[in-house]
Amino acid sequence: MLSDLVIIDAYALQGIELVGRYLKRAVDDGADTEARAGLSLVAFYGGICLGPVFTTADHAIAYPLGTRHKLPHGIANALIFPHVLAVNAGATASKTAQVCAALGFQSGDQETILSGARSFCEALGLDMRLRAHNVPEDDLVHMAQDAHAIRRLLDWNPVDLSVEDIEEIYRAAY
Ligand SMILES: [Fe+2]
Repeated sequence: MLSDLVIIDAYALQGIELVGRYLKRAVDDGADTEARAGLSLVAFYGGICLGPVFTTADHAIAYPLGTRHKLPHGIANALIFPHVLAVNAGATASKTAQVCAALGFQSGDQETILSGARSFCEALGLDMRLRAHNVPEDDLVHMAQDAHAIRRLLDWNPVDLSVEDIEEIYRAAY
């Protein structure tokens, strides 16, 4: 229903704007209670979104990093996030531009979005290469098969990703 989607989009965008405003502050100074309160609201908005619209390819592709290689869920999602934001941009141009603006980096072609999102995460102190997180390169093909089987999430993704597309994302992130 269109009206539900509009409401959910508003919660999602408000949450992303709060991430743009507060995540780096909270990471830099864990005692920054204003920033942490903002992020608590983000978690709440995220929870509201989970019911009606689920998550999509980022979570599906991040899951094998946790299940097979024990990466924390948030780190796993951050490592994959720039790639999925970029790969989905062609199908969701205006929403992607809103996400980029909310997080404070440039939208544009896939390469611009990828590098902006990657820089956003790197500025938090995160090494964005899978290799830096003890993910073995010879497992990427198996991870892609695992991820592709998570239809509960991938069937909602605006772009249909094949096993090969997902393996390519892992290789680009490696
Ligand atoms: Fe999650």
